[in-house]
Order: sequence, then structure tokens, then C-alpha cells
Amino acid sequence: MTQDELKQQAALRALDYVIEGAVVGVGTGSTANFFIDGLAAFKDRIAGAVPSSEASARRLAAHGIRLLDLNDVTSLPVYIDGADEIDHSLAMIKGGGGAQTREKIVAAVADKFICICDASKRVTQLGRFPLPVEVIPMARAQVTRELTRLGGRPVVREGFVTDNGNLILDVHDLAISEPAALETTIDGIVGVVTSGLFAKRGADILLLATAQGVETFARA
Ligand code: 5RP
Repeated sequence: MTQDELKQQAALRALDYVIEGAVVGVGTGSTANFFIDGLAAFKDRIAGAVPSSEASARRLAAHGIRLLDLNDVTSLPVYIDGADEIDHSLAMIKGGGGAQTREKIVAAVADKFICICDASKRVTQLGRFPLPVEVIPMARAQVTRELTRLGGRPVVREGFVTDNGNLILDVHDLAISEPAALETTIDGIVGVVTSGLFAKRGADILLLATAQGVETFARA
């Protein structure tokens, strides 16, 4: 089975968590795209979707799925999104698509974060995938110095601008032994908008697609 087929299996399993008549929070990336494509069949049975990026908004709209502004939503039972890495406590690295700020905002509102991944994303320790950090452009050099002080090697994602008009530093070589503490530290650097560490608000449920089928893990 290809990685894309596994991503699709996890994404389609997440449709079981969509609540009839409710709003759905929708993530960003290739796995989330499979979810959006599957959600199209349910579009008349949900109140609408809150997207976490312009790209997901376009894909949802192309399927005729009603888009909702997060500010107009009072209840969001589920947020469904992929990850670049996820550990056994269901802490994640996200932001491979550079959308982590809006993803973190929508996830914060949702009652449940359902993470959809192929098996390659599961790790025992986060950090092999370079940590994406969204940064206000004028703070690039200062934030680079601070991240270097933390032991990382930040690299500007060339030619990339986030939906919020900012840049992404991909931070290599970080030893992430305490994800929640590092998230607090990095998100506290002046000029950082949002790090791609999702530890303080990790996933509640992981749907992990393996060659043997989709396994479900719940946060302990
Ligand atoms: C985008 C993300 C994605 O969830 C993450 O990059 C995984 O992407 P994919 O599903 O394409 O492997 O955080 O900002």
C-alpha cells in the first residue's frame, strides 16, 4: 500500500467522528485533503466547515461544502488534521504546510482533535522533522538567534509566505525531550507567531493507518 493510500484510509476513518448537524474543523495538507474529499459526500448533513488555511478553504468550497468563520462558531465538536510527527502521548509536530497558526487556533476551539496519519508519522521522540516556526518577518534575525541559543538550526523556508503574511523558520537538530515546555519557550519568543509544536493541546485521538488497517489510539 502506498503512503497516499494509507493517508486516505486514515482520513476516511475520521468521517466516523463527524457529527450530523454540527460544524467540523478541517486541517491542512495532503491527508486533510483526503478527508475533505470524503467529507463532500456528507456536505448536506453538516452545518459547515471551519478551514485552517486558504488552501483547505478553496478545496472545501470546490466541493460545495459551506465555509464558516471561526468567529461565528460557538461549538466545534471535532477538528480533524494530519501531522508531520506524532509521539505516544499524542504530542505532534505540525506545520509542514506552514499552516500551524490557524491550525492551532481552530484546534484550541475544538472539543476533540482527531489526528489522521499514515504509520510513518509515529515516533518515540519528536524532532527528526524540522520544527516549523511562523515568524513576523522583521523579527527573523532575532528569532533565529534565540532558536540557535536553544540548540536548534533554523533555516528560512525559501519562497514561502504564510496565510498570515509571515515567514517560516524550519528548525533542525532540536532535542525535544519535553515538548510542552519547549512549546511554551518557543511560543514566548518575541516575534514568534506560533511554533509547530502541539503538545499542550495534543491530539485526543490518533487514527493511524498501517498495512494491517487503521489503528485507533486515545490520549491517556
Ligand atoms: C500543515 C500540517 C500538516 O498536517 C502536516 O504537514 C502533515 O501534512 P501531510 O498530511 O501532507 O503529510 O501541519 O501545516
